[in-house]
Amino acid sequence: MSAEPYEKQYRESIEHPTAFWHAQAQAIDWFSPPENSQAALLDASEPPFYRWFPDATCNMCVNAVDRHVLAGHGDRVAFYYESPITESRRSITYAELLADVARMAGVLVAQGVTKGDRVIIYMPMIPDVAVAMLACARIGAVHSVVFGGFAPKELSTRIAHAGATVVVTASCGVEPNRTIPYVPIVTAALQLTGDTNTVQTVIVKQREGQVTASAADLSALQAVCGAVLDMDSAIAAAKPADAVAVESTHPLYVLYTSGTTGEPKGVVRDTGGHMVALKWTMSAVFGLEPGDVMFTASDVGWVVGHSYIVYAPLLHGCSSVLFEGKPVGTPDAGVFWRTIAHYKVKTFFTAPTAFRALKRADPEGEFARGADLSSFQYLFLAGERSDTDTIKWAEAITKVPVIDHWWQTETGWPMVANFAGLGLLPIKYGSPSRAVPGWDVRILDADGAELPPDSMGEIVVKLPLPPGALLTLWKADQRYIDTYTSHFPGYYRSGDAGYMDSDGYLYVMARTDDVINVAGHRLSTGALEEVLGSHPKIAESAVVGMDDALKGQLPCAFVCLKLGQSADNIAKECVAAVREQIGAVAALKTVIVVERLPKTRSGKILRGVMAKMASGKSYNVPPTIDDPQILEEIHAQLVAHGIITE
Ligand code: COA
Ligand code: AMP
Repeated sequence: MSAEPYEKQYRESIEHPTAFWHAQAQAIDWFSPPENSQAALLDASEPPFYRWFPDATCNMCVNAVDRHVLAGHGDRVAFYYESPITESRRSITYAELLADVARMAGVLVAQGVTKGDRVIIYMPMIPDVAVAMLACARIGAVHSVVFGGFAPKELSTRIAHAGATVVVTASCGVEPNRTIPYVPIVTAALQLTGDTNTVQTVIVKQREGQVTASAADLSALQAVCGAVLDMDSAIAAAKPADAVAVESTHPLYVLYTSGTTGEPKGVVRDTGGHMVALKWTMSAVFGLEPGDVMFTASDVGWVVGHSYIVYAPLLHGCSSVLFEGKPVGTPDAGVFWRTIAHYKVKTFFTAPTAFRALKRADPEGEFARGADLSSFQYLFLAGERSDTDTIKWAEAITKVPVIDHWWQTETGWPMVANFAGLGLLPIKYGSPSRAVPGWDVRILDADGAELPPDSMGEIVVKLPLPPGALLTLWKADQRYIDTYTSHFPGYYRSGDAGYMDSDGYLYVMARTDDVINVAGHRLSTGALEEVLGSHPKIAESAVVGMDDALKGQLPCAFVCLKLGQSADNIAKECVAAVREQIGAVAALKTVIVVERLPKTRSGKILRGVMAKMASGKSYNVPPTIDDPQILEEIHAQLVAHGIITE
């Protein structure tokens, strides 16, 4: 297919951004629509902060739910809840969703929640999580969803940083090898917030009957907060709440993500710009029309889940599959294919790591062959680099275009992609293809000069960013400036490094900071080092990402002990501390005790060299290294731990 529609739309979006996005804004129902003037479309008066549609008012829930019911599509399915892990499934129509969301909004209002108040949502992949998110959106409350794999301390930090007054949770989550009781985690998190606890109400979805025989005991939780409500009975008894008009720039949510330290970094998303951008991507990028079925196998705790499990499919009037399970083991590697066949999924989106898991469990793709995949048209992969082997395997098994696309929590929607709707560009393996309309992606050298094609540099985007990108960081405007915009004035710094070829195809090669990507989850090695540094026996540590065939990367910790301390049990204790303070999702399994860490003469730890060594890659010994002998000890230890061969 010709690239003409893409080229044309891209050019328009870059040359006349306000006109381009004003046209897309017509697809949204506004209380008060953006007027067609430069100032009303984009407030650029305080760079590097930009605000799209500053005078307009709207409501996300109205656009995602109410308007489909009003248009007569109340019987259309909004969510297909598919839970192979609990062996249950349920369909929820738009009309049913509206009834639940309006009453859940009423529950929040009755608890004193008003526009701008923060609500933490800590839940597994059950429909109630979407009900809670949309209920917040309905009344202008700002939700912050925390991924269920995070431990009490991480949850507590986020509750405190957001200053949340309400927490919505469930009695438990289910992992393949265990049931995870959430109530004790929330209780411990509230205990950790101590005197600074702002939470007045915790609302609990009990899963008795579905997962556990009896309801979770709430007495300990009751002791640490004002009120504990049962979600189902509160919803049943509540008076539905009307949707409130919020400014387009009003925060829809705060989503915490990993930076270079353990300090919480809350990405703030706007409402109106976000709706306009997400709705536009559904057709242009993902090739979906109202009534089609989208299946995004991720988690609502991540940005992919916010955008493409909940908000975008609903904005577009699609049906979204909300999947509680794993690619393999729930119960087998055929679950994705059966789900696609059962719900007639058109577009399926997941992380490359899920496909690596499938490839390992079912190398010949027997399960896919046994399923009716006639509805299936596009496979989208994102969250980490897609390796060519995995893409080729997925192409061979699915017989559909496999589309790698690149984006981040901060951007909220794809920056670089291929275009199921605008017309597929030729696929080049190793590249997520070309900049999406709205994103002026460039490659700069360390001094900020633009680099010619095929030269490695920092991947940046020229400001202003299109609608729906982060507004700022929650309670941290200066950190937003320092992290994203001060390094290269006039540009957003993505934190990724790579190059662009002469056809404009981007190649994302590495992070420029200490963030690693474990099974599509972004983790800060700095945060892991902070946990290890608090261990009484440890003097110093360095955590690096090592290549892993399944998860892309895994953390590898090098620790130096304080003088006279024994190394007995230290690895076990470190692993336990990280699980306890960050969560199982950090997946720290490898801890290596070394005498010293390799450093430059100025004292900078050579993490890059250690990462290459742990991945079995060749490396250069920097001339500034203080003592090259340390590298020999590290090499020997990596061999002894079976991480690399001689
Ligand atoms: N709640 C509680 N614990 C969780 C959790 C959750 N929501 N999600 C994961 N965990 C735990 C797991 O139980 C596991 O604990 P364990 O060390 O006791 O076994 C640990 O965190 C690591 O989990 P996971 O990353 O899921 O690894 P895995 O080895 O269990 O499974 C894959 C490997 C590839 C199947 C899995 O990582 C996967 O499905 N990845 C898809 C990634 C994805 O959707 N990314 C989103 C970005 S688009
Ligand atoms: P997150 O904010 O958790 O979604 O992580 C975003 C980061 O994941 C990006 O900055 C990249 O480092 C990485 N990433 C996401 N998608 C891709 C992709 N398609 N190719 C390479 N890296 C990716």
